[in-house]
Amino acid sequence: MKIGIIGCGAIGSDVAHAADSFPEIDTIFLHDVDEKSEKKLAESTEKGEVVNSETLLEKSDVIFEAASQEAVKMYAIDVLKQGKDFIIMSIGSLFDDDLREKLEETARKHHAKLYLPSGAVCGIDGILSASGDTIDKVTLVTTKPPKALNKNYKKRTVLFKGTARDAVQQFPKNINVAANLSIAGIGFDKTLVEIVADPVATRNSHKILAHGRFGRLRAEVENMPNPNNPGSSYLASLSAIATLKRIVNPIQIGA
Ligand SMILES: NC(=O)c1ccc[n+]([C@@H]2O[C@H](COP(=O)([O-])OP(=O)(O)OC[C@H]3O[C@@H](n4cnc5c(N)ncnc54)[C@H](O)[C@@H]3O)[C@@H](O)[C@H]2O)c1
Repeated sequence: MKIGIIGCGAIGSDVAHAADSFPEIDTIFLHDVDEKSEKKLAESTEKGEVVNSETLLEKSDVIFEAASQEAVKMYAIDVLKQGKDFIIMSIGSLFDDDLREKLEETARKHHAKLYLPSGAVCGIDGILSASGDTIDKVTLVTTKPPKALNKNYKKRTVLFKGTARDAVQQFPKNINVAANLSIAGIGFDKTLVEIVADPVATRNSHKILAHGRFGRLRAEVENMPNPNNPGSSYLASLSAIATLKRIVNPIQIGA
């Protein structure tokens, strides 16, 4: 299998290094708008090869995006139209209802799949299963040290309380997690988000609380930063690698 990676930053590099060790993958095509990044990553992998975006789309069997929302808008339709699967990390782009519906329609028509790794949160599997029946409420509580939110509070302060749709507009850095949770569960207008600055917190944490016909769910993660990009949670890279394993492995675990 040949995989194409768009975006050779923190997450793209982690995925490329993992893919390098998968026997099912023989070639890793790499593309980044920053030539230095793509070249550096190719040199640190055995199977990596720098190509332009046209070659990457043409020759890859599966394409992985870890670049930007713009990159999703630029490439997603073309990838899916070729009947190829697309794994995206910049899930915040799907906040755009028109784009999301267009991608879904194209994927369906061309028998391709759009994969959304669970990213920096845990509990998405439970929300997905629970969405088979009524979910009454889903709340995401994101807690960060005040410094991570450019604040200097001395006590716990709730900065935002409202819908995921409003949260992603006011706090774009939280956008991927809120978007993923909304798509898995009850949508951008019903999913509630609280963003808290807490001087006691040493890490960024995300807590999902939900209840419905299935019962109650409470899932919390405290994230270590990615060693190559402190703004990215390391778990996001690991979830991308787990998604790639789901594609290449014969056994699939979880919802
Ligand atoms: N789903 C999640 O939970 C989650 C978590 C963290 C990050 N993300 C998202 O994943 C993406 C990558 O994150 P990262 O931490 O690796 O970022 P990064 O800044 O370390 O790397 C991004 C790379 O993409 C390249 N790039 C940007 N636009 C491009 C384009 N149009 N075409 C080709 N290359 C392009 C940049 O030059 C850079 O090298 C971001 O959009 C980020 O918001 C998602």
